[in-house]
Amino acid sequence: MNQAVILIVEDDPLQRRLVRENLEGEGFIVNDAADGKAAVEQMRRLPADVAVVDFKLGGESGIDVIRLLLKENPALVPVMATAFASVETAVEAIKAGAYDYIVKPIDFKKLLLIIDRALERHRLQAEVRTLRETLADKFSARNFIFASPAMEAVSRLMAKAAESDANVLITGETGTGKDLVARSIHFASRRAKGPFLAVNIPSLPESLIESELFGAEKGAFTGAGERKIGKFEAAGGGTLLLDEIGDLPVHLQVKILRFLQDREFSRLGGTAVLRSDVRIIAATNRDLERAVAEGSFRADLYYRLDVIRIALPPLRERKEDIPPLIDHFLRKYAAREKKDIRGLSAEALALLTGHRFPGNVRELENAVERAAVFCDGDTIRTEDLPRSLTVRPETDLPSGSDSLEDKVRRLETREILDALQASGGVKSKAARLLGITERMLSYKVKIYGLASKTQGSAASE
Ligand SMILES: Nc1ncnc2c1ncn2[C@@H]1O[C@H](COP(=O)(O)OP(=O)(O)OP(=O)(O)O)[C@@H](O)[C@H]1O
Ligand SMILES: [Mg+2]
Repeated sequence: MNQAVILIVEDDPLQRRLVRENLEGEGFIVNDAADGKAAVEQMRRLPADVAVVDFKLGGESGIDVIRLLLKENPALVPVMATAFASVETAVEAIKAGAYDYIVKPIDFKKLLLIIDRALERHRLQAEVRTLRETLADKFSARNFIFASPAMEAVSRLMAKAAESDANVLITGETGTGKDLVARSIHFASRRAKGPFLAVNIPSLPESLIESELFGAEKGAFTGAGERKIGKFEAAGGGTLLLDEIGDLPVHLQVKILRFLQDREFSRLGGTAVLRSDVRIIAATNRDLERAVAEGSFRADLYYRLDVIRIALPPLRERKEDIPPLIDHFLRKYAAREKKDIRGLSAEALALLTGHRFPGNVRELENAVERAAVFCDGDTIRTEDLPRSLTVRPETDLPSGSDSLEDKVRRLETREILDALQASGGVKSKAARLLGITERMLSYKVKIYGLASKTQGSAASE
């Protein structure tokens, strides 16, 4: 087991030895020091996980020593030992970064408990750090795949955006990678250690957008039982992605504009003027210029947002990106499915590179995922690809005066039959492909009268 290292900073030699021997008896590696300077030296020699620091070290204040030690090792969890059990000393110590305090004379059982908790805290902090690093890694340039000159230009713009704090406006059709670009910029920027939050505007009911963005005071509206912290506030020190900004109602556009101009906002139902240090990235798949011309989007807000513009071309205009993207997704999903898939047949590749991809990279990713799930050998064949790629979909045929309901029914029917066919009639697998529950699938099969068409191939559930 990994042995924890404890540093004791105590000027009384007797006390120091007593604590040291007790902790060594518990199996810890223990270092000690009589003053701040020696403590820092010990910390350099062997970084401690937890430090127990006396409040009064001769003329020196233990609080200052805690600050010095934290500077040396920010991962340290300090505990203050104090003979003066006053609330003020405890508060002061905690403010300086101490995790907890123990009253002298030291009760060892208590000290062990505190150290245990401090070590747990240390472990959690380390976990959060690795998690952040993995996240950053996940969205690092290695996962941003391209080969086309157009995307090369995009990646250069992204690097510029990451260096600056200017507002960014990302445009592009659905599935072109707007989200991915926003995240990549955040994790490459000086804000990488801060939060990355996203608000998807169309997914919110209009009545809740304002409180979601700016927060709300307790009782600001019915249902607001507690004070709510908005995304602008929560993303402080980090980046906020305003996704589908083109869907923002005009009266809220004014509030966002105010924030972008003065960095100030108020919670709904509140009077206090708040500030937040947040970097704004906006994304949209709408034509904002047109929305401005039509009067549904404020020109002044548009110009504020459009400082660095990143326009993502549709996948059909950058076909060179298709093969490396296939490779990337194939590696990802073959690993997930624990399959040894080498590549695609020439026909399958031709089908993919020839497709128009109205759903762009997301559609390509889904196609490769599905193919990886259903591939039985080491090569993806056309049969493994979604049927929408291999046969002309019914929905492309002229549908005249079909009602929306009819269109939806036809689309759903086709997708369900496809999924059932691709899954050999195994409903749980088909449901997973469709991203719905098995129950929902059974329901749809029933209401669309598909049971007869799936009979024979239907396997048990
Ligand atoms: N260049 C790329 N390299 C690797 N993966 C990509 C790339 N572009 C997009 N993707 C992947 O494609 C999927 C869709 O991308 P994303 O969600 O960023 O699109 P979007 O433009 O935000 O779409 P929407 O407008 O529908 O919100 C994601 O899984 C993303 O990781
Ligand atoms: Mg998106």
